[in-house]
Amino acid sequence: METNNQRLLHTFAALADLGQEIANTSDFAEMLRSSFHLLLGSIAIRRGAVARYDRRTDSLHLISTRGFDQISDQTFTITRDEERELASRASLTLAGATASAARFMETHQEFFVAAEIKVLLPLVVHDRLIGIVLLGEKASGEKFTEEDLETLTALARHIAVGINSHHLLAEVKRKAEENQRLYDGLRKIYKETVHAFAAAIDIKDRYTQGHSVRVGKYSEVIARELGWSDDEVEGITIAGYLHDIGKLIVDLSVINSPERFSAKESKEMSRHPAAGYEILAPISHPYADIPLMARYHHERMDGNGYPDGLKGEQIPAGARIVTLADSFDAMTTDRPYRKKLPLEEVLEDFRINTGSQFDPQIVCAFCRAFLKEIDGTKERRLLNLLNRNYDNVERLRPALTQILSEFGDRMSFSTGN
Ligand SMILES: [Fe+2]
Repeated sequence: METNNQRLLHTFAALADLGQEIANTSDFAEMLRSSFHLLLGSIAIRRGAVARYDRRTDSLHLISTRGFDQISDQTFTITRDEERELASRASLTLAGATASAARFMETHQEFFVAAEIKVLLPLVVHDRLIGIVLLGEKASGEKFTEEDLETLTALARHIAVGINSHHLLAEVKRKAEENQRLYDGLRKIYKETVHAFAAAIDIKDRYTQGHSVRVGKYSEVIARELGWSDDEVEGITIAGYLHDIGKLIVDLSVINSPERFSAKESKEMSRHPAAGYEILAPISHPYADIPLMARYHHERMDGNGYPDGLKGEQIPAGARIVTLADSFDAMTTDRPYRKKLPLEEVLEDFRINTGSQFDPQIVCAFCRAFLKEIDGTKERRLLNLLNRNYDNVERLRPALTQILSEFGDRMSFSTGN
């Protein structure tokens, strides 16, 4: 009786150790090695191995061995009948094998005899075979008792759960990586489509070639200066590319009119922000608010814009950025009815219209980024875009500084340098 109690205690202790081992170890090989050693130690067995069942190839591969180092790369084939039979058994001794399991043992008799395997423990989770444990004789040389097999079976069940959890996690990880690859692929397709659309918009409007892409790039510079996250910056860049997509429904003769618009033409043209929203809204964009940025890029801070006459903060921040980028590009490129403006005049226009048309914070972010580029503390994005049309951009420093000091941005201006 005393011996039985001791054995029970010993088994419980081994089970508790095994549970902790499986829960604590993130290294699968280490978890397997130490839990298998615990199993061997529970009955004092010197030699054994764990084999994992691979359903795709109907085979068992040794994944952990002790005292079997010379056969560590052994693989067994296994039929589905044998697999089912093994899965229904808790443990098998060589003498007590059933017909199918015996066939499996017969097939690999040479190995079992050579390795002196005495007991085979199928590792089963939810009635599915996930591997087997092969055990040599006990260190004492005694036969395995029923109690031994019960102890071993209980411990093997824990190992089976550990292996299964590892496989499930590996499978989840593989699926997550596959999803990430698919997502990256979709994102790439989305971006290429956006570029194609931007090109289509710009081709339709022959006077503003490259306008959409430049607005995207100016918006990106402003958003970065405002400290937006990478995803948000990517979103605003795309919003810049697509902001005029509604022009696709505007009559070509209006878009390409060489004169300033008549009242009728202006009305036709002013449909494009809302039309852009209608085109973009049904698409699931990987970034939020792109349809709204297109819809509201002609709104003004004072509420006198269109299509909805939103005021100040009611206008999404992204749309306020695109508004400034759009105006900047419009003023710095030739139009059919006027030449590009000198940059001093552009900045003066910003200064006069800050607060009424433009958001002061966004104007300041733009000026700050501009100054940093002039000072060489920031990559030349704006300057490279402007240098095609303008010389000596460095002379703008006083005008930029003036705007920053006027709109209460002295702090960020000085820290930005
Ligand atoms: Fe527009």
